[in-house]
Amino acid sequence: MDLDTIFNRLWVDYTERNPSVQKIVDLFDREGEIIVNDHIAFRTLDYPAINIDVIARPFVQQGYVAKGEYEFKDKHLFARHFEIPGNPGAPRVFISQLILSEFSGKLQRLFVDRLDSLPPEKFDSANLIFSGSLLKPLSYRIYTELRDESEYAAWFYVFGFRANHFTVSVNALKKYDTILKVNQLLKENGFLLNSSGGEVKGTLRDYLQQSSTMADIIEVDFEEGKYSIPSCYYEFAQRYTLPNGSLFGGFVAQSADKIFESTDYYKKVK
Ligand code: NI
Repeated sequence: MDLDTIFNRLWVDYTERNPSVQKIVDLFDREGEIIVNDHIAFRTLDYPAINIDVIARPFVQQGYVAKGEYEFKDKHLFARHFEIPGNPGAPRVFISQLILSEFSGKLQRLFVDRLDSLPPEKFDSANLIFSGSLLKPLSYRIYTELRDESEYAAWFYVFGFRANHFTVSVNALKKYDTILKVNQLLKENGFLLNSSGGEVKGTLRDYLQQSSTMADIIEVDFEEGKYSIPSCYYEFAQRYTLPNGSLFGGFVAQSADKIFESTDYYKKVK
């Protein structure tokens, strides 16, 4: 599958599921801006059949290589980003995984027992990134129990494999050419920003500044009925030029740590 097909398929699922994204795209469109995607992100577990290396495979087959590695000790996550050497225009791919061994036996069994029972074709790496949750039927009771241990685990349980977010490259915007201008535009139009650690994550010294919306709250079918929970969010990234003259292409763990909280439950539910 070529890259355009992969990204388009992920984009269709992402926009259909998260109404704010299309509204933000329309807003930039009305402002005469053309959106360029800086990166997309996936979430997974370090279970061998679905770990970062497996999720990365369709991208590696298209020329992506592993670049930066990131550790999130408090959230018990590890991440890697992938890019195409010599092609700075290609969106980066950021993949994080939950480190199961650092969680309770209950959480580990919940994921591992269910995954162990699935037939091998469920793990076909060409289609895995589009497959949503592998853990259906979903239980709201399990979702809330997971949330007590890890918001990330709870999100992954329900939404699984799909783009967790796309990211507007602020560098590619004309009028809204700083992260502050973008944030201002979004707030003026009623979008709620993730303010954990401040609305702007990162400083000039990091060579990367990011912000994000809080995830849309959408209705999900559980065995117990329909419940409204946070789904995906939209991110904005402004990159700066390194002393060597090239644009910073990596990520900043401290900033990403806060961006993960864009899918936290308690922050947006009114
Ligand atoms: Ni991101």
